[in-house]
Amino acid sequence: MNLMHIIGARPQFVKLAALSRQIRMEKEIRETILHTGQHWSREMSGVFFRELELPEPDFNLEVHGLSHGAMTGRMIQGIEKVLQDHPADLVLIYGDTNSTLAGAVAVSKLRIPMVHVEAGLRSRDMTMPEEINRVVADRVSDLLFCPTAGSVDNLIREGYDSAKILLTGDLMWDALVHYAPRLPAGKREDLPGEFILATVHRQENLEDAARLCAWVGALSRLDQEIPVVLVAHPRTEKKIRESGIRVPFLTEGAAGPLEMLRMVRDSRMVCTDSGGLQKEAYYFRKPCITLRDRTEWTELEACGCNIPAGTCADSVWSAFLRFRENRGSYDQPFYGEGNAALKMVEALNRFSRSIPS
Ligand code: UD1
Repeated sequence: MNLMHIIGARPQFVKLAALSRQIRMEKEIRETILHTGQHWSREMSGVFFRELELPEPDFNLEVHGLSHGAMTGRMIQGIEKVLQDHPADLVLIYGDTNSTLAGAVAVSKLRIPMVHVEAGLRSRDMTMPEEINRVVADRVSDLLFCPTAGSVDNLIREGYDSAKILLTGDLMWDALVHYAPRLPAGKREDLPGEFILATVHRQENLEDAARLCAWVGALSRLDQEIPVVLVAHPRTEKKIRESGIRVPFLTEGAAGPLEMLRMVRDSRMVCTDSGGLQKEAYYFRKPCITLRDRTEWTELEACGCNIPAGTCADSVWSAFLRFRENRGSYDQPFYGEGNAALKMVEALNRFSRSIPS
C-alpha cells in the first residue's frame, strides 16, 4: 500500500515521528511525506526533522506566511497536483492546522481514502481556526483515529458511523514515552532554579492587542512569585516587538522538540495556549494553566491538572493559587499506553487488505 502523510506544522512533525517509526518496520506499507511548508524555518521545522530523525519530505509545497485563505488555497492546489502525479492508496492528515484543512479538502475531492489522525477533539469554540479545521477534517475523512475516549464520544454524539471510528490513543503520548527517557539529565544551567514555563502563539492571543496586554500582564504577575520563562514562537516575538509593551520576564526564541520537553520536565508549572504542551505537562506531572477560555483536552480539566483561565491577570492568578491548594491527579492513562502507532498500523494493514488489487 502506498500511503502519503500530509504535514506542515510543528505538532504534526512530532505525531509523524511516532507513526513513521512504526510504519518503517512494516514491509507492506510504503510511505511518502508531503510537507506543505506551513512551518519552514530552521527552528520551526528543520530542527524537528533532525532531532526526531524523520525522513526528508518527498514533496515540499513551500507555502507559508500568507493569510489563512491564501495559505489554505495554495496548499489545496499543491496537494491536488502532487496526488495527481503521484497517486496514493491512502492519505493521512493530522490534527487541526491549516495544512490539515487543505489536505482534507484536496484529498476528499480526489476521492482518495483518508484517515484523520487525532479525530473527534472539540473545544466547542468556533472562533478558533483549529476548531473549524478539525470539524471539517472529521467530516470528510473515511477513518477517524481518536486519541481519547472523550473524542470518540464527541463523534458518536455528532452522529458519526461507529465503523469509521477507532480509539487508538495519542501519538504525542507515544512520542513522550519514547523521547522522555532519552532527554539529557539535569536542568539547563542558564535557567532559574525554579521557573514557570510559558508559551503563547494562538492567533486570538496575538492579533487582539487587549488580549496580548492581558496575558503579558498575567505572566508578569506570576513572574513576581516564580520566574517565568516564555519560549516564543516567531509570531509572538514579532507581535511583542510591534506592540512596544514591556515584558519583564525572561523570553527566548522557539525551542526544538527535545529542548522543549526538557524544559517542561524541569519546570514547576506550565502556562500555555498550545494544545500539545498541555499533554506534555500532564506527562511530566506539572500543573498547567491554559491561556484560553476552553481546552479540547477536556479530560485534563476534569482531573484538575489543567485550568483554562483565559488571559485575564486575575483569573490566571486565581488558577495559580488553586494549584497551590491542589495540584490535581496525574495517574489516569487518558492517552493510551504509548502504543497508538502500533494500533494505527494494525488498522492500516486491515484497510490495505480491503483494497482490491
Ligand atoms: C499553527 C497552527 C496551530 C499550531 C501551531 C504550532 C493553524 C491555523 N495553526 O499556528 O494550530 O498550534 O502551528 O506551532 O494552522 N512563522 C515563522 N516561521 C515558521 C512558521 C511561522 O516565522 O517556520 C511565523 C510567520 O510570520 C507566520 C506566523 O508565524 O505568518 C504564523 O504561522 P502560521 O503557520 O500561520 O500559524 P501558527 O501560529 O504557527
